[in-house]
Amino acid sequence: MLLHVPQVLDPLSLMRCRALVEQAEWADGSITAGTQSARAKNNRQLPEDLPAAREARQLIVSGLAKSALFMTAALPKKTYPPLFNRYDGEMNAFGNHVDNAIRTSKFTNDWVRTDVSCTVFLTEPEEYEGGDLVIEDTFGVQRVKLPAGDMVLYPSSSVHRVEAVTRGSRIASFFWVESMVRSDERRRLLFEMDMAIMELRAQSPDADDENSPVVRLTSCYHNLLRQWADT
Ligand code: NI
Repeated sequence: MLLHVPQVLDPLSLMRCRALVEQAEWADGSITAGTQSARAKNNRQLPEDLPAAREARQLIVSGLAKSALFMTAALPKKTYPPLFNRYDGEMNAFGNHVDNAIRTSKFTNDWVRTDVSCTVFLTEPEEYEGGDLVIEDTFGVQRVKLPAGDMVLYPSSSVHRVEAVTRGSRIASFFWVESMVRSDERRRLLFEMDMAIMELRAQSPDADDENSPVVRLTSCYHNLLRQWADT
């Protein structure tokens, strides 16, 4: 499932986040690449231990915690501490690759299986030319370029690339989620069901009556989640 999650960062957090990362000292993106992706990767990345990276990361993490849409779509068990990348000048693209299946963070000293890949855009689409995130999967080829503060999430099993930025800078945060529900198909079913239940609840005044079908459907949702989730 590919999903657009609007406004993970509110305007103030976005402004602060941008100020932090724009002024920081960027490094070659190959610092976190695997062998295959190192060949395809030509961008810059913010070293994780910079104070600016720490503060910016916290802004993203707080935004995620407030996003009900992210929570229900990703059903996060572990979230990799967000990283930041930048595409401009000579270091402006990242060719086709699949993200490494397992990542370890030096901050948490823990393994994260990458089920869901996430990108939070920090620059506006008008600020740069090119730089589309192109994702190829069972849903076909999708080109993604979102307003600053918005996020896209997609299955980490997808082949994807960032096309060359030919003008301006494309700055984003990216990270991975290990989901409580490993299967993308199951996550999608749960997400569809949860969204439909929320709509039904909003539409029917007696949604919380004890015999309401909404209550019965909600219990189906939770019982499915109980079967499939691994916490
Ligand atoms: Ni990637």
